[in-house]
Amino acid sequence: MYAPTALEKPVTIQTLRKMKADGEKFITVALYDAPMAAMAEKTGVEAVLIGDSLGMTVLGYDSTIPVTMEQMIYHVEAVARGNKKSLIMGDMPFMTYATPEQALTNATRIMQAGAHMVKIEGGAWLGETVRMLTDRGIPVCAHLGLTPQSVHKLGGYRVQGRDQDQAGEIFDDAATLDEAGADLLVLECVPAHLAKRITDAVSMPTIGIGAGRDTDAQVLVINDILGLTEQPPKFSKNFLIEAGDIPGALRKYAEDVKNGTFPDDAHTFQ
Ligand code: KIV
Repeated sequence: MYAPTALEKPVTIQTLRKMKADGEKFITVALYDAPMAAMAEKTGVEAVLIGDSLGMTVLGYDSTIPVTMEQMIYHVEAVARGNKKSLIMGDMPFMTYATPEQALTNATRIMQAGAHMVKIEGGAWLGETVRMLTDRGIPVCAHLGLTPQSVHKLGGYRVQGRDQDQAGEIFDDAATLDEAGADLLVLECVPAHLAKRITDAVSMPTIGIGAGRDTDAQVLVINDILGLTEQPPKFSKNFLIEAGDIPGALRKYAEDVKNGTFPDDAHTFQ
């Protein structure tokens, strides 16, 4: 049984690729500030994401769309000050990567704020952007399935890839982004069987959120782990109830992911 311990050395993309090859799950948490980032390092959380979910969890917007580069940079800097060992991923806000050139300019700023990787939402249309960034030394985490920046196009926060055509499209997007050189892939709110098919097919490690237990890693938003969300999504879990305190909640999440007991069927879409 896994028992969380502090990270001993900095986690790199190569660390995560080796974990995928060895079949060892890694833990990711979306968080936004230095103290929580420090706690993640002490708990052995391999990757932290400064998600643009901070628009809702920290700033009080009702979507991620209003989030700015300045807000992302402020929070990436804070997390990077608090955590020296986890792999740090910074989200690129809405419309800051609409063209490859714009992506390069804005990704440079996120990296200079302390991120080790940027995350962008979207499918095959981002292939050229992924190549542009990765060729120039900026690692990229892609994000498919429910992509919250497209909430108005998707018609709400819904499970994606339930019908065959859409599942095929998500699978093909994943293959294209893998081929283009993406380093990681977040799969959000997709049926477990689709996430497994993609995870088995691509070389990059996959990180699931509402994507079942067969992805290479799991990510949850810290507010959900700590029960701070008024209407939590079905796939998330309040670990504070059982653990009793904040460090305990983070440890319990880490243990359950590593031991394969989270997510269970109640937190998975079929
Ligand atoms: O913004 C965010 O926190 C995210 C995760 C939910 C994957 O994109």
